[in-house]
Amino acid sequence: MTHGQIPTAPILKSVILKTMSTLRILLKNEQATLDFGARLAETIGPPCIVFLHGELGAGKTTLVRGFLRALGYTGQVKSPTYTLVEPYKIADKQIYHFDLYRLENPEELELIGARDYFQNAICFVEWPEKGKNYLPSPDIVCYLDFKNSGRVLKCESKSKTGEYITNVILKPCSSD
Ligand SMILES: Nc1ncnc2c1ncn2[C@@H]1O[C@H](COP(=O)(O)OP(=O)(O)O)[C@@H](O)[C@H]1O
Ligand SMILES: [Mg+2]
Repeated sequence: MTHGQIPTAPILKSVILKTMSTLRILLKNEQATLDFGARLAETIGPPCIVFLHGELGAGKTTLVRGFLRALGYTGQVKSPTYTLVEPYKIADKQIYHFDLYRLENPEELELIGARDYFQNAICFVEWPEKGKNYLPSPDIVCYLDFKNSGRVLKCESKSKTGEYITNVILKPCSSD
């Protein structure tokens, strides 16, 4: 995939705050959330762990869908609410999409061998708070909130990898 295929401009225009480790982005419609996921796909490599916080319907799965589509995945992307995790292998990249909404006991994560999943893959985790103490530290934590008819996305970097990603995502913005 070439750089030019990623629709970056609308995202960069909507950045409203950047600090060392936090960025806030207005996502005015579903396409903006998909575009942000696509932008991440351009930036992220394994191993990388992204936590996704937000109420039901906030757009967590949409972000992951944008990520997977940008890598060339054309199939359905649904929240793995009942299976807990959905694996994808795209272009030599292993991706795991977790949805822990229905996790009753975080120890279940041990039983499904989740620890191994995080070793050398790109992992998105919806409802990470449900797996507290049984998940590794994330590189990036995203919070999606409702704002008028759109969403506000806050991303915090939690590691050197995360810091690199937030900087790369925003880098073109400084000359915008
Ligand atoms: N930035 C946005 N503005 C408005 N609607 C959005 C936005 N992002 C996603 N949506 C919509 O929100 C709905 C729920 O999205 P979904 O990704 O399934 O939420 P979650 O996984 O957080 O429960 C979808 O109908 C999607 O089109
Ligand atoms: Mg979801």
